Amino acid sequence: MSQYILAIDQGTTSSRAIVFDHKGRPLWSDQQEFNQIFPHDGWVEHNPEEIWQTTLSVCRGALKKGRLSASDIAAIGITNQRETTVVWDKKTGEPIYNAIVWQDRRTADFCETIRQQGHEERIVEKTGLLIDPYFSATKIRWILDNVEGAREKAEAGELLFGTIDCFLLWRLTEGESHKTDATNASRTMLLNIHTQEWDSELLELFDIPAQLLPEVMDCSADFGNTSANLFGGEIAVTGMAGDQQAALFGQACFEPGMAKSTYGTGCFLVLNTGNKAVKSENRLLTTVGYRLNGEVTYAIEGSIFIAGAAVQWLRDGLRLIEHARETEALAEKANAESAAYLVPAFTGLGAPYWDPNARGAIFGLTRDTGIAEIVAAGLQSVCYQTKDLMKAMEADGAAKPTTLRVDGGMVKNNWLVQFLSDILDARVERPEITETTALGVAYLAGMQVGIFESLEQISELWFCERAFDVSMEEDQRSTLYQGWLDAVERVKTKPG
Ligand code: G3P
Repeated sequence: MSQYILAIDQGTTSSRAIVFDHKGRPLWSDQQEFNQIFPHDGWVEHNPEEIWQTTLSVCRGALKKGRLSASDIAAIGITNQRETTVVWDKKTGEPIYNAIVWQDRRTADFCETIRQQGHEERIVEKTGLLIDPYFSATKIRWILDNVEGAREKAEAGELLFGTIDCFLLWRLTEGESHKTDATNASRTMLLNIHTQEWDSELLELFDIPAQLLPEVMDCSADFGNTSANLFGGEIAVTGMAGDQQAALFGQACFEPGMAKSTYGTGCFLVLNTGNKAVKSENRLLTTVGYRLNGEVTYAIEGSIFIAGAAVQWLRDGLRLIEHARETEALAEKANAESAAYLVPAFTGLGAPYWDPNARGAIFGLTRDTGIAEIVAAGLQSVCYQTKDLMKAMEADGAAKPTTLRVDGGMVKNNWLVQFLSDILDARVERPEITETTALGVAYLAGMQVGIFESLEQISELWFCERAFDVSMEEDQRSTLYQGWLDAVERVKTKPG
């Protein structure tokens, strides 16, 4: 039997495909960027055809690099940007509107209305999510209300909804399979995460006909076979998970208390809470970590809007550096006594502050503050925000993780990861394979076809490339962190 798995990672800015072997080693990959569409202030869209075409092309590209044919691939796994919403015509397969991206804020007013009507508590209770345009429900409603004829068609059962995983599966199977997995479903704000069923009360509140919705599956399951027309033979799709959950899986965070943090443009910290859905009192999200054999492992999640984007700003906005990789050497030579703080609240503050109107600032400048100190402050801001999330998780009753597993582009920077460990007062581990999102869904797909047998086996395949241990005294840590909290206090526009 063939031992290769093709993982599709359809992200916010690019589509990627990676072929992994039976040991979880990435062998061949391909990647393509696609257009970001900004029709109005605060609106973000993708063209679903471009998402599909780039995905198909990178799958073919990765297979070609490995000189592989369909019969060499045991299974496909799909992981994706979450929440992004597509509605398409069941008969023609054509989307009736562009994909509305997770970052899109067009439904903010409607969210405010339902909050004022007092629905938040019920929604948090059932879905683990806060009322916010981020999630799919209000985006679906917007499409049905604003595309001519959409509502009638939806009621007549002629339309289908899907997050990107589901849309890609439908295209890969040429309309045979309309399915999603429990992690993606848990981000729509329509799934009751306790019963694992679409919630009729929420469907009514958001005015969404149930026949639009896909079937919700485990993350390892038989999702359907790709059409033989696409890759010269059928391939089984057997794994699916939203990208942050896939990274949790790829980092082998299988025990309650294990956490991973992914540092891309933003940062998503996800903590495994086992079979318990921990309700956050600190405005974090409760979500499905993964579901296997009908059993749900829950997680809590906190997100930071600006992580790598702070370095991009130092590079493109302030032009203090030419390349992100320069930040490590600069931070190393920064004056350790500097009390400069950069609060990168460019688009407001995310969890746990949720202050959309806050804006960024730099504090604590002195005559000897230079480029190195400001760059260091930018890197430190990412670490301080991670600590904010950790503290919120602890306040929610989650045990403080003893170790944090990190991935994403930023963690190549050793200075940053060391400071993260120091400020969190926890060991931080960087894995050998940092493609953890794609790897996670390759594991999920591989489990269904017998390439990977158990979580224990997958845990053994996780190798630490470098561990960073705490090397800072408590006094220094608390002084530095207190300085950060003071800086945040000064940019906040509301208490909390
Ligand atoms: O919730 C949004 C998240 O899934 C997007 O991830 O990596 O595509 O920016 P990414």
